[in-house]
Amino acid sequence: MTPDIWPVPAAEDLASMPLESLLTREYQADPARVHERLRAAYGPVAPIELHGVPVWFAFGYDEVRYIMQNPDEFWSKHVGHWRAFTEGRIPADWPLIPLLSADNSGFHDGDRHRGLRGAWIAGLREFQEPGGEHTQKLERAILKYCDDLIGVMTEGAPTGWADLAAQYGRPLPLMVANHLLGVTLDRGEEMIMDQWRLLDGPDAAGAYQRLNTALLELATAKRHRPGHDLPSAMFAAAPALTPEEVARELFMLSGFLDFTGSLICNVILEAVGNPNLRTSVTSGQIEELVNRVALLNPALANLTFRYARTTVKLGRFTIAAGDPVMLSISGAHADPLFASALNRDTVRSTRAHLAWGAGPHRCPSQRLATQMCTIAVRRLLDRFSALTLATPPEQLPWRPSPFVRALRSLPVRFEVNPNAVPVSRPGQATAGQEPPPEETDADGWRPPARSGFWTFLRKLRRAP
Ligand code: HEM
Repeated sequence: MTPDIWPVPAAEDLASMPLESLLTREYQADPARVHERLRAAYGPVAPIELHGVPVWFAFGYDEVRYIMQNPDEFWSKHVGHWRAFTEGRIPADWPLIPLLSADNSGFHDGDRHRGLRGAWIAGLREFQEPGGEHTQKLERAILKYCDDLIGVMTEGAPTGWADLAAQYGRPLPLMVANHLLGVTLDRGEEMIMDQWRLLDGPDAAGAYQRLNTALLELATAKRHRPGHDLPSAMFAAAPALTPEEVARELFMLSGFLDFTGSLICNVILEAVGNPNLRTSVTSGQIEELVNRVALLNPALANLTFRYARTTVKLGRFTIAAGDPVMLSISGAHADPLFASALNRDTVRSTRAHLAWGAGPHRCPSQRLATQMCTIAVRRLLDRFSALTLATPPEQLPWRPSPFVRALRSLPVRFEVNPNAVPVSRPGQATAGQEPPPEETDADGWRPPARSGFWTFLRKLRRAP
């Protein structure tokens, strides 16, 4: 169905409308309630503000899907189409400016976007081709990282307490980042720590600078000495790209892998918080569980802006050319038009959701991210005979963010399954198996310094 959207002459003055903030404790604790209230008051599109800047919030399923699928006609992702920005009405220190004005594929349209996206698709292909040599190596590496993290978390104790966000879900994708980048794990520890600092601090500004420098050095090294890794495959697919351009694309990995960590935690929450589900989940069903959680509790809840290229009608409003629209995936999934057709009690869920986007900007890494989540959750359920939430679900802390639905911590009590054998301990190659490729790299590139990644993780251990 095509939503109520077409070019029309007159437009609302967004800035003069009553605006609801999304950066509130209420939104952090219960976004669904806020969506419900906004929907009752405004329909599928509402005027909101983020750090004092007015933005349209689209959270009707048809509206969100339609905008995702029709970017070049009516919508742009480039900040140069934002009227308030080009007219100098957005404060230079507005916190979302660095993200929204980034020079990478996520914020370009047309040919520029297609060229960069093509490099991503080609670069990721060999890591997510089902059964492919590098896909299998990556899957073995992920399994080992899971066991490494579980090993540090339990340190031989049969029972205990752990924060599965800080000690498992969040570090795991950052370890996978180093595998994709072709950086040895021990030498890449500082990069892992900097990706973490970038998102949570301390020293986010310093981490930003160091990561930029490290990724540019890495891209330059891979340009001259290619390996079997993402940057080398991106250069091979798009030889005209410069190391600066590839480094800017690779910088996006921190964010995407953070969404992956958040989805892992949201899936774990669903699995451990629902004992019936946990006992009924076989390994073949976990991928289905990942899909179900991506639908019901999407990690990337709201997207960065689209800017109207022309005056358009959207929902009950007329949007002026140059106005920003934020698309809400979680809001769209809760739209009664979509949600009323869902059966929340079944273990099977629809794939017709928007958690991976849609149209020309759709996520090129859906299979890889799904595999990461599936392996992570399956390994956890294999290695622990019991996992129970150590905090009532309604008291779990969520990160304050306009974009992600991500747990700040996920405290659990665990009982180790004595019959499940880890594939290896941190730093050891797996007996009888080829070590994962990041332990054998020979590209000569070295991140600047070693961090205490494992020391940091050990410090997170707590007595039960
Ligand atoms: C659970 C994890 C992930 C989720 C939920 C997710 C979701 C999404 C969504 C919704 C978009 C569309 C954004 C938009 O339309 O504005 C997107 C784009 C993208 N994703 Fe993912 N993603 C995930 C993981 C990853 C990973 C691991 C990678 C890379 C290894 C990745 C690479 C990308 C790229 C490069 C784009 C931009 C595509 C473009 O603009 O053409 N994503 N992702």
